[in-house]
Amino acid sequence: MTTLVIGALGATGRLVVEALAAAGSSVAAGVHHPRQVNASSDRGSEHRLFDLTWEAEEMEKAFSGVDTVVNAAAARDISQAARVDRDGVITAMSTAQRAGVTRWIQISMAGVDRPEVLPGFLLSAAEAKREADERLATTGMEWTVIRPPWLTDAPAGGRVVLNDAGAGSLSRADLAGVVTASLQEPATINRTFEVASGPLPINVALAQLL
Ligand SMILES: NC(=O)c1ccc[n+]([C@@H]2O[C@H](COP(=O)([O-])OP(=O)(O)OC[C@H]3O[C@@H](n4cnc5c(N)ncnc54)[C@H](OP(=O)(O)O)[C@@H]3O)[C@@H](O)[C@H]2O)c1
Repeated sequence: MTTLVIGALGATGRLVVEALAAAGSSVAAGVHHPRQVNASSDRGSEHRLFDLTWEAEEMEKAFSGVDTVVNAAAARDISQAARVDRDGVITAMSTAQRAGVTRWIQISMAGVDRPEVLPGFLLSAAEAKREADERLATTGMEWTVIRPPWLTDAPAGGRVVLNDAGAGSLSRADLAGVVTASLQEPATINRTFEVASGPLPINVALAQLL
């Protein structure tokens, strides 16, 4: 079976695809521009067209053979957050469940349930993410909601802290590490957590969610 990464050409999505392929998983890299489908890949993954603004019928075909989804997408234009990050993701979740997907890893955003700590320009995106996160728990799939703070392009440090409201940033490389480790760690199933750079090895931190 295959893991579909939505937003696979984004800064985090690329790293998630690479990490999953390196671990030997079958990966479909979800891209949302037709011209990207045939782009060559040296990462051992298939490119599959998938757009969060599609109708459910179109999405259903893209979930063929998929048992796990990692959603690493985000609307480029914040004015599209309700359409893409809320409505599109909610449609994708329910369609995935009907199509036989059993596991969904959702990359959300730290502070979505504490809007008073967020800058004003992020509020609509945060609200869209929060609503999608809440819906995920009702789909019947096994789910994990990962909420990172500000993302950087620093190299992987491999160490994190969970649920520390004061923690400041996380590298996308470490976020990809948290995503792939979550797929191996049962303690992350049906859990929502914030994660930032910190003192604990990723696998140790995730195991503490039990
Ligand atoms: N940036 C931060 O500091 C930060 C902080 C907290 C949480 N996050 C979350 O972390 C995740 C990764 O962030 P990032 O900055 O690494 O990502 P990113 O580089 O902004 O990539 C987002 C990806 O989503 C794709 N996308 C946009 N609209 C789509 C649609 N309608 N259907 C399918 N895919 C679509 C984009 O494709 P195109 O480029 O082709 O449009 C892109 O590949 C996101 O969920 C984001 O909300 C980010």
